Amino acid sequence: MSEVVKMIIEGKTYEFPVIEGSEGEKAFDITKLRQQTGYITMDPGFGNTGSCTSAITFMDGEKGILRYRGIPVEQLAEHSSFVETAYLLINGRLPNKQELTRTSVQLNDDSLIHEDMQIFYQNFPRRAHPMGILSAMINALRSFYPELEDTDPEGINRTFLRLLSKIRTMAAMSYRISRGHKVVYPRADYSYCANFLNMMFHSPVRPYELDPDIVEALNVFWILHADHEQNCSTAAVRVVGSGRVNLYAAISAGIAALWGPLHGGANQAVIEMLTNIHKSGADIEDVVRRAKDKDDPFRLMGFGHRVYKTYDPRARIMKKMCDTVLPKLKVEDPLLDIARRLEEVALTDPYFIDKNLYPNVDFYSGIVLRAMGIPTEMFTVMFAIGRLPGWISQWKEGADDPNWKISRPRQVYTGNIATDYVPINKR
Ligand code: ACO
Repeated sequence: MSEVVKMIIEGKTYEFPVIEGSEGEKAFDITKLRQQTGYITMDPGFGNTGSCTSAITFMDGEKGILRYRGIPVEQLAEHSSFVETAYLLINGRLPNKQELTRTSVQLNDDSLIHEDMQIFYQNFPRRAHPMGILSAMINALRSFYPELEDTDPEGINRTFLRLLSKIRTMAAMSYRISRGHKVVYPRADYSYCANFLNMMFHSPVRPYELDPDIVEALNVFWILHADHEQNCSTAAVRVVGSGRVNLYAAISAGIAALWGPLHGGANQAVIEMLTNIHKSGADIEDVVRRAKDKDDPFRLMGFGHRVYKTYDPRARIMKKMCDTVLPKLKVEDPLLDIARRLEEVALTDPYFIDKNLYPNVDFYSGIVLRAMGIPTEMFTVMFAIGRLPGWISQWKEGADDPNWKISRPRQVYTGNIATDYVPINKR
């Protein structure tokens, strides 16, 4: 007999089936809980709630493990390319040579965006945040490329590649236009990462010289961000997608969710925090003291994680990249020294030790991005480009499930009990 969990509620025993994952994770299935008992569960922030089964990404927060389709992220960072990793996430297996070439050709073919879309960019205020622009523009893409409506697998696969290709053109374009610079078109002879860098930095007066170390650093950065199971933005994509909205709208919602400083926006917040410390000359011990003070809203940005209760494996790779890439690029960044010192002080402080607060991916990623020449306001956009394969594969997993249910949590109501309407002249 398969395993069950017994629950005694108001003296009556109920049995709930146990679901076991391939890595031994267990959950009890409460699908029938309310129907059978009249109760619901309460789990603000969903720290104990599984919203789906998924075969895409495995994380073990206690051991610091992250694998895409079973492959450790460390191996992918060392041997794979972002395009290959995106293929792996979306299709569930590594591509053969032919498939990888076909994917790269398709990404090149789809890299232009409709010329009329440039007009939208011109009309955002100069100070608009690129994440707001990106979210709006990805949603707008649907009006220009509505093919997903015919739901044959060919059309959907084409849409995945379109999104992957166009997001990078759109991101670079938003940066160029925000700076008042002419848009640079993608080139068919450049790889995915090289193309993005060229679109960002090429100038008619100073052609951009591709540095293989920067291209590789960007490749690793994007691989490390490619998926992270049911995080805030991915959950947003799944929740919004579950209403059967089109993929563009679901991804646009994911971008909006990623923007927040407690999530993807932390990479920008970390650099702003480190810059403030640098400029003010604040004492590191004082900064850590502030982060611990319950009466002070300040938190150590880039520290702590809902799932990782040990060092984030992505942060480990990112930190190593700082040690290797910065010297190669002859970049001396005072913020790196401050970050190292902050980590040292925090990791020996009982507050951070007791609460299992370690650096997360965002703690060192901003320093790598700065070394590549990426401006701070584009950091979260860089994260969004990297996370796109994850969002697509998670959406696809939902859409392929014949039992994909619309997401609709419940609540415990704590407001007024039934109250009569009072006419305005009697209030
Ligand atoms: N600095 C100081 N204290 C912290 C920090 C931090 N960075 N993170 C958590 N804590 C403390 C909390 O105050 C809380 O203390 P308490 O138990 O005494 O109340 C305890 O640690 C647990 O923190 P929660 O906020 O309850 O943990 P949760 O899992 O809800 O939040 C989060 C995780 C949002 C990442 C949090 O650690 C945080 O705000 N970190 C800073 C922002 C950040 O770096 N975000 C990026 C996350 S990675 C990503 O999304 C890509």
